[in-house]
Amino acid sequence: MTRRTLIAGNWKMNTRRQAATELARGVVDGLSESSQVEVVLCPPAVYLGAVAECVVGTPVGLGGQNLYAEADGAFTGEVNAGMLTDIGCGYVILGHSERRQLMGETDADVSKKLHAALAGNLVPIVCVGETQEQRENGETEQVVSDQLKGSLAGLDEARAAGIVIAYEPVWAIGTGLTASPEQAEAVHAFIRQLLSDDFGEDVAGQIRLQYGGSVKPGNAAELLSQKNIDGALVGGASLKAEDFLGIIAAG
Ligand code: G3P
Repeated sequence: MTRRTLIAGNWKMNTRRQAATELARGVVDGLSESSQVEVVLCPPAVYLGAVAECVVGTPVGLGGQNLYAEADGAFTGEVNAGMLTDIGCGYVILGHSERRQLMGETDADVSKKLHAALAGNLVPIVCVGETQEQRENGETEQVVSDQLKGSLAGLDEARAAGIVIAYEPVWAIGTGLTASPEQAEAVHAFIRQLLSDDFGEDVAGQIRLQYGGSVKPGNAAELLSQKNIDGALVGGASLKAEDFLGIIAAG
């Protein structure tokens, strides 16, 4: 099963309009024409329109960092799937650990968002991952399994093949600590097995699994060469075109 490598930049709550457009143009201009890697930029919601203008007509895709799982209506401050696709998004990050920890998002919330994303023709990038304490307590597989099952609740085989799962160990996010390629591959293989149990081997073989957590140009090649690692969800290093392009080149 060949899975196209997917490198996504999660800019989180960073940049201003000018920095966002310069960064997007830097990625577009620096992308090698022969690159087989799929590249997605996920800027803050307010800059999606400005970044969309930079990437339209290029191989670089656009993604949201979150959505609200309701149709238009009285939901002050929220952005829904229809708005994301309208502005040019093809992807949306869901259940990022920062949202789980800081905004109290639950697996049930993520599942609702997943179905809203799919109904809106967005590819969901569903994030899972354990904390340092959970890893030290030997709970990694249980935590990842619970998050995955809860977040994918109600998903059928037909739609499962098109989703993306990002394994982001919380202890490796923004800390400079990276899971070793072996640690990351072990969890990715475990996730692939869980997906296979739920959706069958064929569908599980089509689902792309990204690693996230201090991915940098210097460690990307080894991580991306692992059998079950099909891409990266990049935070800090996606904020510099040169670093992000270095990661893409390793893919
Ligand atoms: O979603 C990406 C992420 O949480 C990893 O962030 O800064 O460790 O690459 P970072």
